Formats: sequence, structure tokens, C-alpha cells
Amino acid sequence: MSEIRKKRVFSGVQPSGKLHIGNYVGAISLWRELQATADAIFCVVDLHAMTVPEAVKPAELRAKNREIAALYIACGIDPSRTTVFIQSEVTAHAELGWILTCATPLGWLHRMTQFKSKSERQETVGSGLLVYPVLQAADILLYDTDLVPVGEDQKQHIELCRDIGDRFNHLFGETFRLPSPLIRESGARIMGLDAPDQKMSKSTGETVPGHSIGLLDPPGAVKKAIMRAVTDPGQEFRDEHASPGVRNLVTLYEVLSGEPRQAIIDRYQGGGYGYLKKDLVDVVEATLAPIRAEHARLSADPAVLDRLLDEGASRARDLAAPVLARAKRNVGLGRA
Ligand code: TYM
Repeated sequence: MSEIRKKRVFSGVQPSGKLHIGNYVGAISLWRELQATADAIFCVVDLHAMTVPEAVKPAELRAKNREIAALYIACGIDPSRTTVFIQSEVTAHAELGWILTCATPLGWLHRMTQFKSKSERQETVGSGLLVYPVLQAADILLYDTDLVPVGEDQKQHIELCRDIGDRFNHLFGETFRLPSPLIRESGARIMGLDAPDQKMSKSTGETVPGHSIGLLDPPGAVKKAIMRAVTDPGQEFRDEHASPGVRNLVTLYEVLSGEPRQAIIDRYQGGGYGYLKKDLVDVVEATLAPIRAEHARLSADPAVLDRLLDEGASRARDLAAPVLARAKRNVGLGRA
């Protein structure tokens, strides 16, 4: 590996539910910044979306794959500078996923907080839901990744990925580069507008109006969700720490506008929450309007998107092949 190699960045989004402003602020906006200096790979992780089968129907999953890929590009991910592809089209992910599954102690998976919370909500829990962080580790390790830009909820999975890679290296010899998470200081955990004690979530956004701001929601729905966002029982903005709802709105404003947090607080301090909310509607619209327009343009010509995804998958296969070969050789698979 060359010393002057650019940092390799890998990240992905599950094509399930409604992509929202939390995904944009916590992850995709960070990807866009990194693509300028890093060698970046962004994947639509459809194998992960299968872990909750009842949440995603087959025909919907196919449609979502295209929608999410188009949204990456509409959000400013440049496919000529980065590698954008659909996970299941690069079979090395599933192969390395299995190899790592066999090298991961079960107890490590039972400790994952996301498994605990997701499995509590289901009648039948598929084994994929438990094993899914190992597939996530495979996604990352497959590309000799240095940095994984994600929201705070994925931190534990990236730490697990390091542990899995490290254990594998000890057991089978140096195979994987160990990655680090890259998490925003502000905006790594956007909360639900209707319930600021809960993380904004794609699945809740599908069913509960006013919970999230979808990246493709029409302007009227965006305005309604923000104007109805839960703040606190008082009428005026006094102390942003008084309520998680107010804190959440200030965070969205801060990250989307790029303005220093204190300047925002100073401007709205002492006024009614309505002022902050009205201006936030404009800030959010300034972000979403170009995304909607670019997404519509890409959706009008699926052949262009398909060509980009074919090229992305081909590049990803080339990058993944030597790492998968290294892992297979080191564990003794295949012939001598
Ligand atoms: P997923 O699809 O749930 O979320 C995609 C990205 O959005 C971030 N995110 C948030 N950030 C801020 N506030 C929120 N409310 C919020 N909700 C979600 C997530 O942290 C994530 O960065 N397991 C992953 C997908 C994955 C992956 C990977 C990520 C699979 N393989 C390899 C990185 C590297 C997931 O389910 O993300």
C-alpha cells in the first residue's frame, strides 16, 4: 500500500423507509464534504434492508435502491469522483460477511444496542438482524477503509468492526486495515420533530406524520412538520438547553445554514418559537429544493443512473477483489 494513498472513506444507507433530514445532516452532508479530499465509496446497502423482511417488500426494495442511489447524487455526491453502487451487485460483501461471521463471538453481537431495540419491536426476529453488524464490518473492511462517516447511532457498529478486524488479524495474520468512525460534533443525532426524546427514524417517518422531514417531502409537508415541531411548554426561546426539541431545531439550523450556533441563539433569544421555526422552514427549503429538482431530473432518465451504478459496481468489484482474496487465503479457503 502506497504511503501517499488518499484516505479511503466508506459509508452507506439502508434502502428502507423514508430518507430524512437526519440521514442528510448526520451522514450524507458529511460524505459530500469528504469526497473533495478522500477516495470515497458510497453504497446503497440493500442486503441490510432484508434484516427486517416485513418492513420491505421485494418490489419496493428494488425501487428504493434506485431512489436512494439517485438521492445520493441529488444530495451532491459526485459519481465521477466517488464510487456509488448497490451492495448486492458486489457479491464480495456477502462472501466476506460469512467469513467474518465465523470469526465473531456471538456475545459481541448480543451487546449491540440496535439489535436490542429493533428486536424488541418484532414478533419474529430473523437471525440476519443479529448478524447484520458483521455484514456491516465486511462492507467496511472490504475496501481497506480508513474513515466511516456516520451518525452517532452507528458508532457502536464501527467499533465492533474494528474489534472484528483486529481479532481476525490476530487469528489469521495481518489482513485488514482498521477503520475509525467519523461523527459530526453537532448534528450526529437528529431527533424526531414530534418526539424529541426519540431519534428521527426512517421507519417512523413512513407512518407518523410530522415525525421526520423526508428529503423528497413537498414544501407544504416540510413547513407543517417544522411549525408543529414539539418545543417546550413556554412560548419564548429563553435557553436552548431547556428542551431537547428546541436544541434539535437549533442544530438543524446550524448544520444546514453553516451559521455559528451562538449567532443563531442570540438572534432568536427572547422571541417566540414561531420566528425560529419560520426561518428554519426557509433554511430547510434552501437545502431540499435543489435535491428534489435533481432527483426528479435523474428519475426522468433511469438509463443514466443505471450506467452510473453499473460503473460503480464494476469499480467496487475491482477494489474488493484483492482484499477478499487476502481474507480467503489467510483463513485457508480454496486450494493451495
Ligand atoms: P441507516 O440506513 O439507518 O442510516 C444511514 C445513515 O444516517 C445516519 N442517521 C442519522 N444521523 C443523524 N440523526 C439521525 N436521526 C439519524 N438516523 C440515521 C446513520 O448513522 C447512518 O450513518 N447499518 C447502517 C448502514 C450501513 C453502513 C455500512 C454504514 C451498512 N453498512 C457500512 C456505514 C458503513 C444503517 O442502518 O444506517
